[in-house]
Amino acid sequence: MNIPEQIFPSDPTRLRTGSWQELGPAAQSVRHAVFVEEQRIPAELERDPADAGCLHAVAFDAQGRPVGTGRLLPQPGGVLKLGRLAVLKAWRGRGVGQALLRALLDAARAQGAREVMLHAQQSAASFYLPAGFEARGEEFMEAGIPHIEMALALRPGQGDA
Ligand SMILES: CC(C)(COP(=O)(O)OP(=O)(O)OC[C@H]1O[C@@H](n2cnc3c(N)ncnc32)[C@H](O)[C@@H]1OP(=O)(O)O)[C@@H](O)C(=O)NCCC(=O)NCCS
Repeated sequence: MNIPEQIFPSDPTRLRTGSWQELGPAAQSVRHAVFVEEQRIPAELERDPADAGCLHAVAFDAQGRPVGTGRLLPQPGGVLKLGRLAVLKAWRGRGVGQALLRALLDAARAQGAREVMLHAQQSAASFYLPAGFEARGEEFMEAGIPHIEMALALRPGQGDA
């Protein structure tokens, strides 16, 4: 893919958060390219009925094409699970992933969430460290890929030490 540098989309006006109804087709196109076509995860594992209850973030290029996505899935006890974070291969290393992470963490704080946790692909765990995530527990397999659980406390000192 040939993408000129000047349309690099770290401009936050091109990053949207919303429901699956609003952002589903855009999010799905990125996820299919990254998880199904690139990482060879079976499409039936990638698809998930939980999407309807998640908050989604999608980054768009200057032409309005989706280039990155991620979601927050509500869990019991004020916890949100961050997942399906993906940036098209041609757009990696330009800050799109961190912009998505920031937007999702801002949304989690705005909701008053206590904690954001995630299952990081082991190879991508260091991506989450600058935002303050810490690994916990043992490595495990998910969709045939080694993962580690990571968590970020948003309201420390409120009974969740
Ligand atoms: C992980 C992913 C979303 C990162 O998106 P990205 O747009 O490339 O990330 P950024 O450009 O915002 O990267 C910011 C920083 O994280 C680092 N980083 C990016 N991907 C990384 C990875 N896989 N592992 C470790 N560090 C990573 C970059 O080096 C960069 O560091 P720097 O600012 O010090 O140079 C992207 O690589 C991706 O879609 N990978 C395939 C799917 C995947 O693995 N999803 C995550 C499941 S847990």
